[in-house]
Amino acid sequence: MSFPKTMAAIAVERSAAGTKMQLREILVPHPGPGQILVKLAAAGVNRADLLQVQGHHPPPAGAPDTPGLECSGTIVAMGQAVTGFREGDRVCALLAGGGYAEYAVASALCTLPAPSPVSVEDAGGLPEVYFTVWSNVFDSARLRPGESFLVHGGSSGIGTAAIQLMHARGHRVFTTAGSDEKCAACAGLGATRAINYKTEDFVEAVKQETNGRGVDVILDMVGGDYVMRNLNALARGGRLMNIAYQKGPKVEVDFRIVQARLLTLGATGLRGRPDAEKAPIRDQLAREVWPLFETARLKPVTWRSLPLAQADFAHQMMRESRHIGKILLIP
Ligand SMILES: NC(=O)c1ccc[n+]([C@@H]2O[C@H](COP(=O)([O-])OP(=O)(O)OC[C@H]3O[C@@H](n4cnc5c(N)ncnc54)[C@H](OP(=O)(O)O)[C@@H]3O)[C@@H](O)[C@H]2O)c1
Repeated sequence: MSFPKTMAAIAVERSAAGTKMQLREILVPHPGPGQILVKLAAAGVNRADLLQVQGHHPPPAGAPDTPGLECSGTIVAMGQAVTGFREGDRVCALLAGGGYAEYAVASALCTLPAPSPVSVEDAGGLPEVYFTVWSNVFDSARLRPGESFLVHGGSSGIGTAAIQLMHARGHRVFTTAGSDEKCAACAGLGATRAINYKTEDFVEAVKQETNGRGVDVILDMVGGDYVMRNLNALARGGRLMNIAYQKGPKVEVDFRIVQARLLTLGATGLRGRPDAEKAPIRDQLAREVWPLFETARLKPVTWRSLPLAQADFAHQMMRESRHIGKILLIP
């Protein structure tokens, strides 16, 4: 398939007046060995993009400066040694960067078909959340059948995916969110109990719901004082996975509780890992998760789709946390 020499892409411009995202004309990247070139239908917005634009989360070596950790669209070219895909396929992909653009290069190892019942635009919001949720909850925390699960930030991109997936797999799901409206949305996605963290103590609520036992696995993006509170909310043998520290990364932990109750703490990051480490996660998503879209047990939760030129507004919307689910940018 043919593609143009140049494309519109978001450039981050910093000045004394602040940071602005502007559309600029840049060269269309060429796919190298093992890579595919995607003509974008959509790019997902992630909280990490906000940090990158503010200069706090630089792209890993070799990744484009253009923000954007995931995309969906149509394959228009492929480098050498790509198997399993053809030009014209509708796909979605996890990216190390470069998604806020009309075209992006993705590693074939981090690419999945867009699930057929899902619009190709909505598929742009699936890779980052499902790679993160699967790898933390199943690969790291080893959630077993019949165990219970708590995800904080239930109305986030991550939360809306985690609630649906654990509910679809038959787990009791607890979650926290910052308003009754968000809690109602989480319940609608399958949460057994959505706790408004502004009016209720989640440790007490979880203890009440589990007859004092606690929950088996917690996926946390809050950090700070939530770390000790999470440990208190875990059942004996429970596992805590941290993926972000919105209330701070440095905390005091009483390891006597960890030791006495046989708890496990972990933390992971996705972006900096080599593609070869992400490929087994992709394979598990293809086997275990994507079929749940085919049967409508999972649905994308898209809050708003905005033109790429409105990237600044999309980031403001995420900063204000008015959204439930994913915000997408459409080139
Ligand atoms: N480590 C990794 O590999 C990885 C990968 C992907 C994402 N992440 C992280 O995961 C988080 C979610 O990502 P996202 O893109 O889905 O962002 P997002 O939609 O903006 O979600 C942020 C969420 O945090 C919630 N929150 C803030 N303070 C809270 C509190 N005290 N208690 C409970 N919830 C609270 C917000 O809920 P309210 O609005 O209701 O307060 C909001 O739902 C981000 O921090 C992101 O950086 C990490």
